[in-house]
Amino acid sequence: MNNVYPSSHPLIGTKLTLLRNLKTEPKKFRELIREIAAMLAYEATMDLAVQEIDVQTPLMTTRGTSLMERIGLVPVLRAGLGMVEGFWELMPGSEVWHIGLFRDEATLKPVSYYNKLPIEPTVSVCIILDPMLATGGSACATVDILKKWGVNKIKYVGIIAAPEGIERLHNTHPDVPIHIAAIDEGLNEHGFILPGLGDAGDRQYGT
Ligand code: PRP
Repeated sequence: MNNVYPSSHPLIGTKLTLLRNLKTEPKKFRELIREIAAMLAYEATMDLAVQEIDVQTPLMTTRGTSLMERIGLVPVLRAGLGMVEGFWELMPGSEVWHIGLFRDEATLKPVSYYNKLPIEPTVSVCIILDPMLATGGSACATVDILKKWGVNKIKYVGIIAAPEGIERLHNTHPDVPIHIAAIDEGLNEHGFILPGLGDAGDRQYGT
């Protein structure tokens, strides 16, 4: 499937294995989320546009580059919040716009509870952050919100994804590249990703 980028980086695979382990405590779990997010940030931003600028070194003036885009990080609450720090380490000037969605346990449909986006978009590229892409309902709803806001360059960065979620997000929004650490086997009857890593929100926040 084009526009879907599972990582093949050995460090990401190793850290993801620790993340999956049920014995990994919340403190370590949060560290791993942040570290994997930073590595995925590197992979997901390879195509960002730059402009040439002059830079004065201690010895002379030379040509360099700076990012042209204004980047908005969009963590989907709660679980996506833990990915922000990893991205900020690489892109400290990024704005952060939170979107609050939870998945109704009975219907598996996303329910919106927080959105404070201003009327006019303030960024040119949005990077959605959410560790888990299950049915894809939350990801599609977030892309819908951002497109309605007026941003059309959107990337999705997650940690694990079920094939069902990838297919739904890709079919609904084929223009949105999907960067993930791994594609898992699928969903169980409750909509949980298998083999998965449990609930990324609960495991980060100790709930
Ligand atoms: C999880 C996850 C995604 C969503 C994925 O959030 O972080 O946002 O479910 O499911 P979907 O692809 O089927 O929409 P959850 O509802 O558990 O909320 P939380 O992050 O607050 O725990």
